[in-house]
Amino acid sequence: MKNSFQRRLQRHHDELRWLYMELYDNDSMFAELCEHLKSFSDERDKALRLLDDKREAAADWYKQNDMLGMMFYIDNFAGNMKGVEGKLDYLEKCNVNYIHLMPFLDTVPERSDGGYAVADFRKVQEKLGTMEDLESLTAACHEKGINVCMDFVMNHTSQDHEWAKKARQGDGEYMSRYFFFADREIPSQYEATVPQVFPTTAPGNFTWLPDAGHFVMTSFYPYQWDLNYKNPRVFNEMMYNFLYLANKGIDIIRIDAVPYIWKELGTQCRNLPQVHTIVRMMRMIGEIVCPGVLLLGEVVMEPEKVVPYFGTVEKPECHMLYNVTTMATTWHTVATRDVKLLKKQLDIVNALPKDYLFLNYLRCHDDIGWGLDYGTLWLEGMGERSHKQYLNDYFQGYAGDSNSRGELYNADPVTGDARFCGTTASMCGVEKAVSEQDAQAEEKAVRLDVMLHAYMFMLSGIPVLYSGDEIGQLNDYSYKDDPNKAADSRYIHRGAMDWKKAGRISDKDTVEGKIFGRLDRLEQIRKAEKAFVAEADAWTIETWDASILCIGRYFEGDKIIGIFNFSEFDKTAWIKEDDGIYEDLISGAELKAVDVSIPAYGFYYLKRKSIS
Ligand code: GLC
Repeated sequence: MKNSFQRRLQRHHDELRWLYMELYDNDSMFAELCEHLKSFSDERDKALRLLDDKREAAADWYKQNDMLGMMFYIDNFAGNMKGVEGKLDYLEKCNVNYIHLMPFLDTVPERSDGGYAVADFRKVQEKLGTMEDLESLTAACHEKGINVCMDFVMNHTSQDHEWAKKARQGDGEYMSRYFFFADREIPSQYEATVPQVFPTTAPGNFTWLPDAGHFVMTSFYPYQWDLNYKNPRVFNEMMYNFLYLANKGIDIIRIDAVPYIWKELGTQCRNLPQVHTIVRMMRMIGEIVCPGVLLLGEVVMEPEKVVPYFGTVEKPECHMLYNVTTMATTWHTVATRDVKLLKKQLDIVNALPKDYLFLNYLRCHDDIGWGLDYGTLWLEGMGERSHKQYLNDYFQGYAGDSNSRGELYNADPVTGDARFCGTTASMCGVEKAVSEQDAQAEEKAVRLDVMLHAYMFMLSGIPVLYSGDEIGQLNDYSYKDDPNKAADSRYIHRGAMDWKKAGRISDKDTVEGKIFGRLDRLEQIRKAEKAFVAEADAWTIETWDASILCIGRYFEGDKIIGIFNFSEFDKTAWIKEDDGIYEDLISGAELKAVDVSIPAYGFYYLKRKSIS
């Protein structure tokens, strides 16, 4: 085991040292880092080291077609960590083998940003359990082959973190870990070029601290203080926190808000080259101490900005990234019934190297930002501002033929910009149909919901569901009664898991049973068919109908095509895949993949049975 550490260190030492010196030019801090890497490696539990070896030998272990994720807040899902351990059977029933535990580290409830304001990186929130509970949970998950993901919020700490408290008292050593300014001059210079993340709920990028007589940089909420990575002490300590958490049995580290971690005056303070240096170092540090651990980068940006976070084949950075533009474009397609932009977006993604692994999702704990390819939409006569307005109106249920329900997020009166919040089922029309007791509309909404999942499962990468979406949970408006949440509409789609509803998953007459059962079928197919592996060829096929998307997948002789009808009308996909007889993997029927009729909000997974 000791040898493995030396071997891994040797492999990366020179590059790591080079990059470290480039940023910090500090030999003694680098030496300290290396010593700590050794101690974290020595402290790593035997079972985890065995897993590291296994994964190192099978580097593609996470790119298989059996991967399915689910994300949830621990308290909403099962009360606390022990509760989650008691629900592993349910997760297995959901075919899930990857769980993202939403932020669970110590935070002050009145200032928590859903846990993204961390007060102590080495303490679990008391109501959720202890570090021992986390270790017990990760070990129990590993026994069932379930991987555990957690957030590593490295851009900022909470103002309640001990560093922040000391900085606030004027301790220079700690002030230098953040961005402190005695007057408005430099902050105003930053404000001239740095956009705002929360323009309505937390305008500006600085917060005045009257007691400290200083401004502090706060890109997100005023209580989330940006860390200064120009200080090597910050980098080293945060890497120790990362390794400490990895050693608790975490398999996937989601690097929160990663594009923001380096700041330079006169820039947008996003995606700067130093961010990539840091992520690359983090990747090497992980490979040296805990090679079984994956990095998932949270880069909510346009494709050109996202892809560089994979690094290069020789110098990789993140293992996985969110397929965020595809997600937003999917909802644009739902609202417009026009697949053109989505097809173009998928063509871009499909042309990327197969080593790049995307995390696919229909929605997550955050809002849906309308980051679409407006250059292309412009050619269709759609302006950015008016189209965003249309999408927001549509999903609130005001415009077009919409059955959606949900709320705006950070509507900015100046730019006219707003993002959107809602659960998948509510956005698909289930909420409206249920409240109007309209059985026909309910079935239509369920069909749309399931079709969207079927399409999402067809994409290359790892699909991740938000807990509750597997049973069609609706928006939860109760956040408005909680003063700590009322101003943040993202809580509308972060409601508690309804276990009473989950009890109906076997009853095919209920919304829960319909959605759960149909998704289960799709998940079984995805697991069984090798054409769903991430490295399969994937491409789009012209259908000559604006509302119908067709995706092909091919791997080692197996070919599957997926056809998805984004409209509420029965249609024909005018495809000409006349190369054999296909089997509909859902119904078992045999057919030719030529001019295929497809019902409203319907879909097919067609597998080629014989080649002609
Ligand atoms: C990420 C999280 C989001 C949070 C922000 C600040 O974007 O997904 O929920 O508000 O980071 O940490």
